[in-house]
Amino acid sequence: MKGFPTGLRKISGVNNTEANPIFTPVMINEQYFEEFPQLQTERLLLRKQELKDAPHLQQSRSNAQVMRYMDSDAHDDVQTSEAFILKNPKAYERKKGFFWVITSAETGNYLGDIILRNIDRTNVRAEIGYTLMPDFWGRGYMKEAMRAVIEFGFKDLQLHSIEANINPNNTTSRELLLKMGFVKEAYFRENYYYNGKFLDSEIYSLLKRDFIQG
Ligand SMILES: CC(C)(COP(=O)(O)OP(=O)(O)OC[C@H]1O[C@@H](n2cnc3c(N)ncnc32)[C@H](O)[C@@H]1OP(=O)(O)O)[C@@H](O)C(=O)NCCC(=O)NCCS
Repeated sequence: MKGFPTGLRKISGVNNTEANPIFTPVMINEQYFEEFPQLQTERLLLRKQELKDAPHLQQSRSNAQVMRYMDSDAHDDVQTSEAFILKNPKAYERKKGFFWVITSAETGNYLGDIILRNIDRTNVRAEIGYTLMPDFWGRGYMKEAMRAVIEFGFKDLQLHSIEANINPNNTTSRELLLKMGFVKEAYFRENYYYNGKFLDSEIYSLLKRDFIQG
């Protein structure tokens, strides 16, 4: 049974002994929902997504290479991207997720986006998602952005684990996750219905203690 391990009960007001263990509460650090966390790396600045990013997001979300394994609808016009962006602050206000735009630290140019969403306070876990404009693929930008977001997730937000859900055909995304230390946790058969087809999913996860630094 999930929940309390057999034989262990939470007892308050008594000493923490082997016979009467008291669980240490695990909590995420809520302060990052008061002020949005901007993240800086050597080459990148990860900042809050804003309405002005809509044309870039639309370009990315309507690009066939980017959308190939996203299994979500393309953004046919800028209005769709604007509506998408406007939903994100609400998720942040509801304390459910962070949506960053990946920009060049030098020029401020838009390179892509990266998110931590579905923040699960009970299990101290969140899901990561990411896209990069094809012009910038294969230069290590996503590794750099992910490292910053994962570090933020574990060190600042105090998550215990981060998960990623990919289309099993998305080799590039899988290689990237493995490189960051993620481990395959599950393969779901035809669990996702999209565009008239039942699609498989692979779930990867990274535990705080397994995070590969550097
Ligand atoms: C997934 C994605 C963000 C990776 O971006 P990227 O710029 O290639 O990432 P990086 O340059 O940081 O490369 C990271 C690792 O990915 C893997 N990788 C990159 N290009 C690859 C390719 N063409 N084939 C296989 N693996 C590849 C490598 O392991 C690489 O590490 P290495 O450079 O040490 O060999 C990018 O391909 C993308 O935006 N794809 C479309 C959107 C998408 O599918 N997002 C994920 C949804 S789950």
